[in-house]
Amino acid sequence: MADASLKKILGSITGYLEIERRMGVDCFLREKALQRRLDLLKEIEEEVLRCEKCSLYKTRKKPVLGEGNLYAKILFLGEAPGVEEDREGKPFVGRAGKLLTQIVEALGFRREEVYITNVLKCRPPENRSPLPQEVNACFDYLQRQIEIIKPSVICALGRFANLALSKNDLSLNQIHGKEYFYAGIKVIPTFHPAYLLRNPEEKKTAWQDFKKVIKILNPKSKTNKLLHLDF
Ligand code: URA
Ligand code: SF4
Repeated sequence: MADASLKKILGSITGYLEIERRMGVDCFLREKALQRRLDLLKEIEEEVLRCEKCSLYKTRKKPVLGEGNLYAKILFLGEAPGVEEDREGKPFVGRAGKLLTQIVEALGFRREEVYITNVLKCRPPENRSPLPQEVNACFDYLQRQIEIIKPSVICALGRFANLALSKNDLSLNQIHGKEYFYAGIKVIPTFHPAYLLRNPEEKKTAWQDFKKVIKILNPKSKTNKLLHLDF
């Protein structure tokens, strides 16, 4: 074989091997980064299991850290576990959770593609509202979760999610429509799904808020093409 053709073949093989090597390195780095996120969340989970920073640990069955994609672009933040969540150790699995899943799907995502968590990791007895000292005591866990996941946008569901992130104790009506930033991440204050179950006439307004989420993720998207929220 002529020298020139041999050189050409060797050149192609070297090029191919370099691409393979880079892909291997990329894959390795991606796996390491994912493992790092998993480890950091595991640390928080273990701390929450032992946590006695407020009195709610005494009455809860299972703490609820949160669940979803560790690279989620959207983080949904609720208030606190309810009876079903306390029993299962998972967020938003009751009636309000079903509605949240419908909202996520109407936005074009699967539930596993977003991240879902709460301000409080333990259920308040009789589902009473969180106390300010409980919100403060539990905040460090949420702050770390957000730091790990680094979502592009946070949907703050209801008064307590907004109290935790904005540090302003405003009613949802006062803060509704006033987007703000938490740690450089855009926060959309909107209604809690449990409120929407009690006040279905507000669903249209809520849908306008949820569509803003899509606009933030993809400014060119035609959100008017999104399904009208049929929930
Ligand atoms: N309501 C919440 O705020 N969080 C849940 O996980 C369930 C209901
Ligand atoms: Fe700790 Fe939060 Fe549970 Fe209170 S609610 S005991 S601060 S994990």
